[in-house]
Order: sequence, then C-alpha cells, then structure tokens
Amino acid sequence: MLKFNYYGHACFQLDDGKYKILFDPFLTGNPQATINPDDVQADYIFLTHAHSDHVGDAYDILEHTGATVIGIPEIMDFGGSNVKTIGMNLGGTLKLPFGYARMVPAFHSSGVGGGIACGYVVNIDSKNIYFAGDTCLFSDMKLIGERDAIDYAILPIGGHFTMDAVDAAKAVEFLGAKNAIPVHYDTWQPIEQNPEDFKKLVKTAQVHIVKPGESIELK
Ligand code: NI
Ligand code: MN
Repeated sequence: MLKFNYYGHACFQLDDGKYKILFDPFLTGNPQATINPDDVQADYIFLTHAHSDHVGDAYDILEHTGATVIGIPEIMDFGGSNVKTIGMNLGGTLKLPFGYARMVPAFHSSGVGGGIACGYVVNIDSKNIYFAGDTCLFSDMKLIGERDAIDYAILPIGGHFTMDAVDAAKAVEFLGAKNAIPVHYDTWQPIEQNPEDFKKLVKTAQVHIVKPGESIELK
C-alpha cells in the first residue's frame, strides 16, 4: 500500500510502509503547513529546486532524520555539514531500495546561480509517480509519459509562478497519466485557484483533490 500524505503547497510524503520519501519540505512559513518540521519523517528527501518554498526546512529535517537528500548538485548547498547527498542530473536514473527515481526536466528558475529546476518520476510500490516540481507546460512531457507509464501526476496548478489549471490539464493529457493530484495553489493570493476547475478540465484521468493534512492511498 502506497500512501500520499499532503503537507501543503508542494510538500508531500510517499510512504510504502517501509520507506518514507519526502518532497520539497517547505513547512516553516508555509500558511498551509499541517506538520511541524520536527515531526516529519523521511528516509529520502527529493528537492526540485532551491526556491525557499521548496527547499524550506530540508536542512533541519535532514539533521533529525538522517535522511539522504537527492537533487541537482548546485541546489544542494549544505556545505560543511555531514548531510548525506546524492547529486544527479536531468535524464539520470537512480536505483533506490524502494524502486528508482528518474530526474526529468522542468522549465523554471532554480533559485541559485548555475543550477536548474527539475521534476522526478519515482517508481515505488510498482507505481510511477511523476512530480513536476515548479514548471510551465512543455510538450516533452509526452516523452516522460512514454518512458514511464505514469500512474499519478502531481502537478502545480496555481499559475503565476507555474502552469495554471488549463495548462496542467493539458499536461495530464501529454503525460497520459491515469490519475492527477493538484498542488502548489491557494498558499498565497497570487496562486489562488479552485482545484474543481482543474478537475473539470481534465478529461483523460481521474483527479484527486487532497487538502493539506489529508492522506490518500495511491492505487
Ligand atoms: Ni519555484
Ligand atoms: Mn514554488
């Protein structure tokens, strides 16, 4: 059984019952956050880019969990610490105890000089979960879906900094995803968005609207 635990904004955890995989752990200062960084569990932390609403509390969580952090080398500047990092880059695939992770492109600024933003396809519990990170729509999402049959696409819908509901619905189509979960909306005024609008626009997949603090099983 694979659980999707949503902590608000772009922060969520995948839990297959053995491994806990945390993504973009922005909790302190996140108006949607539903968990204290001290209470978050993680074996791995995936970072999509270095904007503060994504790196967030990564360092503190790494310290208390001993988790391994995965990302583009330039964005994981935890210099001088004994944090465990695995640097990788676009197109790379990493074998992990629960499955694998493939780093895929995202069109967005990185938050640091020399870095780039990315997304991930994570294979866990025999399912492929695509997390877009922050990105606009791009047609090569079709290639991501051709390589890995996407069971769940976790997509930003807030607009302003990323694609909006209209483009995210097109992304679902490009990916050929079976299911979609909207994130990165309603945190602040510029990204206010009604997720029901996204749900109406998606004709090719099942949309699961998960509120911050809620969990669903990914089937
Ligand atoms: Ni960003
Ligand atoms: Mn963001």
